[in-house]
Amino acid sequence: NPRAMAARDSHAGRRVLVTGAANGIGRAIALGFAARGATVGVADLRAEDVARAVAEIEAAGRGKAVGLTVDVADYIALEAAAGEAANAMGGTFDTVINNAGISPKHEGVAHKVWEMDPAEWRRVVDVNLTGTFNTIRLLSGSMRAAQRGWIVNTSSVAGKTYSPIVACHYAATKSAIIGFTKHLAAELGPYGIRVNALAPGRIETPMVRGVAPEINEEQVRLTPMARLGQPEEVADVALWLTSAESSFVTGQTVDVAGGLYM
Ligand code: NAI
Repeated sequence: NPRAMAARDSHAGRRVLVTGAANGIGRAIALGFAARGATVGVADLRAEDVARAVAEIEAAGRGKAVGLTVDVADYIALEAAAGEAANAMGGTFDTVINNAGISPKHEGVAHKVWEMDPAEWRRVVDVNLTGTFNTIRLLSGSMRAAQRGWIVNTSSVAGKTYSPIVACHYAATKSAIIGFTKHLAAELGPYGIRVNALAPGRIETPMVRGVAPEINEEQVRLTPMARLGQPEEVADVALWLTSAESSFVTGQTVDVAGGLYM
């Protein structure tokens, strides 16, 4: 089947940085890119998680992986880690999937603005928004020079409409990602770089498994497809947004939500 063969190699030769790649959606994206022949930079906070994710990709027997133990909020650390990865890979990243994100709650409940610790607000902005800026600030120069590049950011349905199950810092950063993505698509489009975002609905990951079952049951009830999404279903859209099959798509935020909020 020639189409299946082409899909198998759709990302061959690409160097893809995936942040938050040790768990959940990021892990599925990293495995998906490796399965399509890419070299994957697995970035996450803890060395042992990064090592496990790298080993998992290597065990799958397709693509290659390099580990980056880094906090995406730390620009200097990211620059150093990406430099080491570029040496190991023989070139810099041409594709970035900004997936790392946090959604703090208080004992599983979305707390209100008047209950929010200002330091927690800053941390969510630093990871979810500034972390996304940091990788793009760092890597868009080499992408411009190469006249090609692919960037996928991670918003959320909670960035498009009010969601009672997240707190205001999370909603604010996920809304900001949508506008940031449009602006960058305009700045970088002339250089052959496409910038898009994903807006997942309720996806079955460690982030979502950590809440009371009633919360997920209610989200399933609100989802026309009547189930949680799987991380691989988000990964498939990230693969599409960075493939030749989406060559005229930029500045878009694509819902992967089973119809939750339309
Ligand atoms: P998760 O919590 O299961 O995994 C996130 C990964 O990111 C973890 O491995 C974590 O260690 C890493 N990470 C967190 N902060 C980091 C930092 N500062 N630097 C580097 N790595 C860091 O999360 P999940 O569910 O896989 O979510 C991934 C993305 O998708 C997030 O941006 C989240 O906001 C977004 N999202 C998830 C939804 C869901 O239902 N699971 C719905 C909508 C959006």
